[in-house]
Amino acid sequence: MKATAIAHPNVALAKYWGKRDAPGNVPATPSVSVVMGGLETRTAVCFDASLERDVLALNGVEASGEPHARVVALLDEVRARSGVRARARVVTTNDFPTASGLASSASGFAALARAATAAAGLALDDAATSRLARRGSASAARSVLPGFVALGTEDDPAAEPVAPADHWPLAIVVAAVTLGPKDTSSTSGMSHCRATSPYYRAWVDDAPALAAEVRAAILARDLERLGDAAEASALRMHACMIASRPPLLYWTGATLELLARVRGLRAAGVGAWATIDAGPHVKVICRASDASTVAERLAPLAARTIVAHVGGGARVIEEAP
Ligand code: DP6
Repeated sequence: MKATAIAHPNVALAKYWGKRDAPGNVPATPSVSVVMGGLETRTAVCFDASLERDVLALNGVEASGEPHARVVALLDEVRARSGVRARARVVTTNDFPTASGLASSASGFAALARAATAAAGLALDDAATSRLARRGSASAARSVLPGFVALGTEDDPAAEPVAPADHWPLAIVVAAVTLGPKDTSSTSGMSHCRATSPYYRAWVDDAPALAAEVRAAILARDLERLGDAAEASALRMHACMIASRPPLLYWTGATLELLARVRGLRAAGVGAWATIDAGPHVKVICRASDASTVAERLAPLAARTIVAHVGGGARVIEEAP
């Protein structure tokens, strides 16, 4: 009745932003991502008949409210399918800033889906685990699988492999601008955008072509094409956010300075392209051999830089007794 899993966050090179009117948290745009090995969430789940309610400890602090409710919803689904009735103790830790736009919900729900199903004795394949994780957070569906991964917009989608982790030794240099939590969660940001941004429809209509381009560039290992399409996806998503009312502006001055520095690196002949999620941080895609040069150039503008490599999927681990 007990299991521990680890998962890594992922960064979308073609972004998911917006939900369909379909049950179970279904994206309105297809996305393609890469798993960020080197950043890790570790989640232990223990079903315990003596508990009166599910308990969640997030980085050593007992969580309530929205994060707790989302975890309970996933545990309820696992209980319904497995017949386990006991409540659970969930202990989860991230070795990187939480809820700040560094995709902690992606690795969090991917690790939770793996650990909770294993603890309940439910044997789910990758696709079923990915669907379960998606209900917690759609980007989490992608962190269940290794390497380069896609998530579609059909009813009840599961993440699908695009290419394995060893397909292409890219690096993702994360330039974290602030280490605190962000003001607006992705979930509420995307619903605000959909309700108030005049560019929302255009964003949704345009996204599939960019996702196809990102996928083709990954398969061809064409970094320039990938970087160009990934930057376009991130900036079009942010254009849609900024046009909301009141505006949804995640950027700070440091975000813009980092974007300018990435352009400067390219002008100097270093293949580096930026992407930005629902936060101020800038993540830069480059060849693994350029990662230390890129990290050195970005470090003076960031609170912290982390170099991630293409990582594996969410997996159950053996814990020392
Ligand atoms: C900007 O997966 O966090 O990172 O499904 O509502 O939990 P929910 O949203 P979430 O949104 C991620 C948005 C993004 C782009 C992406 O990862 O594709």
